[in-house]
Amino acid sequence: MLKTKITEMFGIKHPIASAAMGPFRTNDLCIATSEAGGLGMISHTPASPSGFESNYVEAMIKNLDYVVEHTDGIFGFNIRTSRVEPGIDKLISETSRHILENDKLKEQCLYALTSAGSATRMPKNKDFQKLRKNSQIKHFHVAPALWLADKCVAAGCDGLVVNGFEAGGHQAYERVGGVTLLQQVQQKHPDIPKIAAGGYANGAGLALALAAGADGISMGSRFIASNDSEFHQNYKDIIPEAKASDTIVRTGNLSIIRMWKNEYSTAKDSIKSREEKIAQEQAILQKRAKMTEEQLKEEYRKDFVKNYAIYEGDLQSGIVPLGQSIGVISSIESVSNIIEKCVKDAEIALKRASNYII
Ligand SMILES: Cc1cc2nc3c(=O)[nH]c(=O)nc-3n(C[C@H](O)[C@H](O)[C@H](O)COP(=O)(O)O)c2cc1C
Repeated sequence: MLKTKITEMFGIKHPIASAAMGPFRTNDLCIATSEAGGLGMISHTPASPSGFESNYVEAMIKNLDYVVEHTDGIFGFNIRTSRVEPGIDKLISETSRHILENDKLKEQCLYALTSAGSATRMPKNKDFQKLRKNSQIKHFHVAPALWLADKCVAAGCDGLVVNGFEAGGHQAYERVGGVTLLQQVQQKHPDIPKIAAGGYANGAGLALALAAGADGISMGSRFIASNDSEFHQNYKDIIPEAKASDTIVRTGNLSIIRMWKNEYSTAKDSIKSREEKIAQEQAILQKRAKMTEEQLKEEYRKDFVKNYAIYEGDLQSGIVPLGQSIGVISSIESVSNIIEKCVKDAEIALKRASNYII
């Protein structure tokens, strides 16, 4: 057994979280992780092909209700707070209110994770403030660079997800690897609880993260390749065969994004800097400001359909987010096996390393 700030903070057995993987649904993965003694995660998903803002609220409520009905374990939810995500304040408010109104959710949904945008959006929200005051919920934000970790600490976050450049999904332009980033954040903010993410897939990875100052790890790609995740079998099947070099970083909807090399990603350009991305975001916001509600709905619907084709097994025509950790993963297993083995092997690795001390 491993006891860390994360196991203590959430009252869970193992310091392992399943990663946020919106826009894809991760409810069953969340349940399996919570049931196995880890920290499950509900992702930021749209509800249906109309994919418009009210749909995100509807999806979150449904996801929360489904998960809490199927587990007595501890879990959380992710909201991406990017400027270009639709209806974020409403989503934070409605999610907070819904949790506060339901005693079982209030007891079990203890991990509010924001990412891909401002760390202050959630703590500034009045409904979230009320939930925070009346429950044990903790707010974490994803920090993919040191200056972003500084911002999270300044925003009063209860903890950080320290997300290195190896990770699948959205990335920072700084492109700093997880080992360096974890040391940087640990050096500057030694006391804040940290979950390390990006590149972790086994017990050696967990031991490495704990030894470097993290209090737990979060895994995305490792859990996609599990019997319990909702991802299509074609998506899962890529992983055991893949090499670490089979991913590529390209421009995504919210920033640069690490994805699997396929027809789509290898033909796509990447923006080079944060400045270029901000200019691109402003152009998107200006374009949307001129659109009618119907045109906006159509734009979101198209995005949704494209993403869902991927999620449902078409692996060539769009973004297939995966991390470099795919080079470490050689099996598709149950979440409980993955977690048990990870903890056991981390204990062995940590004991072995402690023998070096004389
Ligand atoms: C399919 C996929 C979708 C993702 N979507 C999100 C998301 O919506 N929000 C977020 O904070 N991170 C997202 N991420 C990043 C993960 O939360 C996590 O940091 C990453 O998977 C860690 O790297 P790993 O895959 O090597 O474990 C996504 C990752 C993947 C693979």
